[in-house]
Amino acid sequence: MTDKKRTAIVTGAYGAIGKAIARGLAGKGYRVVLIGRDASRLAKAKEEIAADTANEDIQWHALDLSRKEEIKALADKWEGPLHVLINNAATTPRIREQTPEGIEIQFATNVLGYFWMTRYFAPFMEHLNDARIVNVASYWAGDLNLNDLEFETRPYDNDLAYRQTKQAVRMLTAAFAKRLKEKNISVLAAHPGDVASKLSNLLGYGGWEAAEEGAATPLYCATDPGLRGVSGRYFTHGREEKCPFARDSRAVEKLFEICSWY
Ligand SMILES: NC(=O)c1ccc[n+]([C@@H]2O[C@H](COP(=O)([O-])OP(=O)(O)OC[C@H]3O[C@@H](n4cnc5c(N)ncnc54)[C@H](OP(=O)(O)O)[C@@H]3O)[C@@H](O)[C@H]2O)c1
Repeated sequence: MTDKKRTAIVTGAYGAIGKAIARGLAGKGYRVVLIGRDASRLAKAKEEIAADTANEDIQWHALDLSRKEEIKALADKWEGPLHVLINNAATTPRIREQTPEGIEIQFATNVLGYFWMTRYFAPFMEHLNDARIVNVASYWAGDLNLNDLEFETRPYDNDLAYRQTKQAVRMLTAAFAKRLKEKNISVLAAHPGDVASKLSNLLGYGGWEAAEEGAATPLYCATDPGLRGVSGRYFTHGREEKCPFARDSRAVEKLFEICSWY
């Protein structure tokens, strides 16, 4: 991957919104690398996206984004620049689950997965022409408890745990934006909209927007020329919105520090 073509990674790439984002990037001529944990679903998504966009430059890697070593292993073999990273994968099981390393799975996937992808792939994005990281967040966010990020002392509730992770994503967007500014990497958070998906069904709602509508704001954040150099901001339905979570810089820094311990 050493030519001048722009390359993008999309995580959760066979999910409802992830596939629509990947299709949108492929349609704009990006080399797109699909990441998910099921090889056959990745291969099928690749075929679909290539057929829909006439862009054959689609690759995929199967890995579990809740596991640091798997992310690191992909980064270790990565060659060439990366222009766009879309952290999109998320999960919300109804019953508390843990990774083999013993980390609560929503925190591991929805927060640490984004954190590790950013940490390990940012070095491939430094000082390029307009590199951007887009964290797919949500307006459905809040109640983050820095003393119990893994629901060890509170009763686990998947909706509460999900909202906490989505607050964390918006906080980490601010934390990474600050750190990556000098490397010329922008970091933005985007609420995609309400789309029917495995995830939304687990949260107990259907969703009324098409996946393409859901993909529109993440794609806008990733590619709109007017957002060049804009970083650390939160967008919903194609517009910037003030993010109360990013403003609490003490909490933002504490969360970043905690994520670094894992
Ligand atoms: N749908 C909505 O209305 C809505 C609203 C606001 C925000 N969002 C956000 O939009 C993003 C996409 O969600 P979606 O609605 O498109 O849900 P989705 O269809 O369930 O997609 C989520 C994707 O993440 C993947 N994933 C989960 N855990 C993984 C892991 N450990 N390793 C690798 N991949 C993993 C899933 O793969 P598996 O199928 O194998 O689990 C799936 O492909 C999420 O960040 C979500 O929070 C969605």
